[in-house]
Amino acid sequence: MKRFLIYLFFIVSFMFILSCEDEKTSGDLSHISYNPQEYVLNYPDHFPRMNIPADNPMTKKGVELGRFLFFDPILSIDSTISCSSCHDPSLSFTDGRSSSIGVNGRRGGRNSMSLINIGFIKNGFFWDGRVNSLEEQALKPVEDTLEMNNTWPNVVRKLKIHSKYPQLFREAFGIENKEDITKELVVKAIAQFERILISKDSKYDRIEQGLEKYNDLELFGQKMFFDVDPDIPDAECSHCHNVPLSSSDDYFNNGVQTALNLTDFADKGRGVVTASEFDNGKFKATTLRNIFFTAPYMHNGSMSTFDEVMAHYSSGGLDSKNKDPLINDIAKKNLGEFELSALKAFIKTFEDPSFNTKPEYQNPF
Ligand code: HEC
Ligand code: HEC
Repeated sequence: MKRFLIYLFFIVSFMFILSCEDEKTSGDLSHISYNPQEYVLNYPDHFPRMNIPADNPMTKKGVELGRFLFFDPILSIDSTISCSSCHDPSLSFTDGRSSSIGVNGRRGGRNSMSLINIGFIKNGFFWDGRVNSLEEQALKPVEDTLEMNNTWPNVVRKLKIHSKYPQLFREAFGIENKEDITKELVVKAIAQFERILISKDSKYDRIEQGLEKYNDLELFGQKMFFDVDPDIPDAECSHCHNVPLSSSDDYFNNGVQTALNLTDFADKGRGVVTASEFDNGKFKATTLRNIFFTAPYMHNGSMSTFDEVMAHYSSGGLDSKNKDPLINDIAKKNLGEFELSALKAFIKTFEDPSFNTKPEYQNPF
């Protein structure tokens, strides 16, 4: 009996050691080759230079992994919502809703933002600029209860036991073992994918490169937009929607909300980030590139057509103590039908439908 127990002890111990060994080797990825190749971004000289964080260089495999993660509902608690649910390539990475819908049909408070030329943004992400890098931004939707409502430990656990992701993380970041998958690597890959979302093939861009010319209507609109001709009414747009990205990357109150006092805005926007009352009611002046694909408009999705936006600016918008004086200046111009159509024609030169259909931006599943 005693001898039997000793045998049994040895057998059980041996099996235990084997199983531990098994666990370690099954997570091992070192047999998969890691051969990082730089992903070279191409954009014209009239663009600013993109800042790529030193600790997240662009690689082909990094971008590929980021694309899988961007389109994969695995990031959400019930595997129903991916980043692309609210950032759909066919709508220039917006969702066509006034405010976004997350898991279980939950409505968020703000309008989804287009990700056009997002890698060039230097002054904060979200309507209020509350995060400072794309990597940091990508951490947020996963744990937002109105979006993916998940936890990072849960996401990372699912990725580690997935049949495909451990290999993709090995190829992208050279990790030795699937236990080395972290949320930091997930968001690095997503940010790499986002940095390739560059719209640079609009008529505006071809004109900047000397390859094409404006027609008369567009040229009239261009002069209004940039205030370059004293004989043509200034529409003031370029003070806040700058070239070449058509966003000044800054925050303003353009009269979308009314408030009696600075503390009364329904959505305080930038003020919550800077803790300055004067910034309440200010939001990011977003890009006007592909604007005809990204309705409805404004942080609260309150305007459903471009013409409604123009009617907003022509009327001076809603009042509050820190509404930018430029908005009333636009209203004072009493822009007529011809002027509004010229402005629209110029803004249409920012249009780049090829951005929405680029094969490398589409769902890889
Ligand atoms: C449920 C819809 C929803 C999902 C899912 C979602 N987003 Fe968003 N996204 C939004 C909304 C709405 C905003 C603006 C929110 C705000 O300003 O508070 C936004 C803003 C952003 C911005 C800031 C853009 C800018 O110009 O500052 C980026 C970048 C972004 N999302 C990327 C992602 C990524 C990456 C994922 C997946 C990890 C994701 N989003 C998932 C709805 C969504
Ligand atoms: C004082 C700065 C300022 C001026 C001047 C200005 N805008 Fe804006 N614009 C903004 C801000 C800020 C937003 C976002 C506001 C919000 O969401 O609450 C915006 C939003 C927009 C949007 C909607 C963008 C989106 O993604 O939903 C369009 C279109 C637009 N502006 C066009 C114009 C045009 C055309 C002009 C000139 C007639 C102009 N803007 C003048 C600051 C300005």
